[in-house]
Amino acid sequence: MRKIIIDCDPGIDDALALMLALSSPELDVLGITTVSGNVPAQMGADNALKVLRHMNRLDVPVYCGAEVPLKRDYVDAKDTHGEDGLGETNYPKVDGVSWSNGAVDFIIETLQKETGVSIIAIGPMTNIALALQKCPEAFQRLEEFVSMGGNFKSYGNCSPVAEYNYWCDPDAANYVYQNLGTMIHMVGLDVTRKIVFTPTIADFCQRIHPSNGTFAKQITHFYNEFHWKYERIIGCVINDPLAIAYFMDRELCSGIYAYTMVVTDGVCIGQTVVDSMNFWKKEKNSYVLTKVNQIDFMKLFLKRVFQAKESDLDIIFNAG
Ligand code: BDR
Ligand code: CA
Repeated sequence: MRKIIIDCDPGIDDALALMLALSSPELDVLGITTVSGNVPAQMGADNALKVLRHMNRLDVPVYCGAEVPLKRDYVDAKDTHGEDGLGETNYPKVDGVSWSNGAVDFIIETLQKETGVSIIAIGPMTNIALALQKCPEAFQRLEEFVSMGGNFKSYGNCSPVAEYNYWCDPDAANYVYQNLGTMIHMVGLDVTRKIVFTPTIADFCQRIHPSNGTFAKQITHFYNEFHWKYERIIGCVINDPLAIAYFMDRELCSGIYAYTMVVTDGVCIGQTVVDSMNFWKKEKNSYVLTKVNQIDFMKLFLKRVFQAKESDLDIIFNAG
């Protein structure tokens, strides 16, 4: 089992990413940390607990982190994820178990205490930057770092050039790119845009796994409406589960090694500048994913979260 911390902002696709991680026997989720992004960090922590309750995994600790970005004003994404962050499902708060404060210290202490810990960051990188600023030595023990965010050749999703997680806290994202000292696996919009959870797939999930399927269908309903309105997509792009899946199976994606920076001001704020042609002759700090096998991703996702069998998968992938 590989030890991971998931830093997130649940968030509809974050919730699906947590479900994937918790359903995967090769992952040991040491803790979930939340950051202000799609929704404020405290609401995200409440939502993480709701997902854990659904998955019967309230043993996993949840830590709430940074409430605002390092420098710029906080802008949530409730227009995309709903007022409650889970598609306005308004599931009741978890009783009896609560989250703790101190996400940044949890990240540092876990890296110091445990060996072989990786971080998968699927929200703005404020917590990661703060932990790195506070205790850079702890990060020398980091095994791997996967970040959902950014875009190389694809267009942005909250400005013409910027992806939400990096746009929300560009200073944190850039700080991490410049200072982490470990290759950042950048799972950006170039690959995540290809991951579409369609209403047909959602129906299928509900039939083969009524509990997880109904949960997934309910939380994605609001997201589908948003995608139709703004992107003319039937279904929804689920970015974050790809970061988890890629961490488990490198064959799903491929990319390029390059030096990357994140623009921290001006009209291009939040944009990732990927020096793919090595103009700047800087040390490569990232592996930027450019290709994904979306069918293989979806098969893994369906097998893990909804326990789809090979014969079930034929219904979706080899119909007719
Ligand atoms: C990212 O932004 C958030 O809205 C999603 O949860 C995902 O992490 C996609 O740009
Ligand atoms: Ca997210």
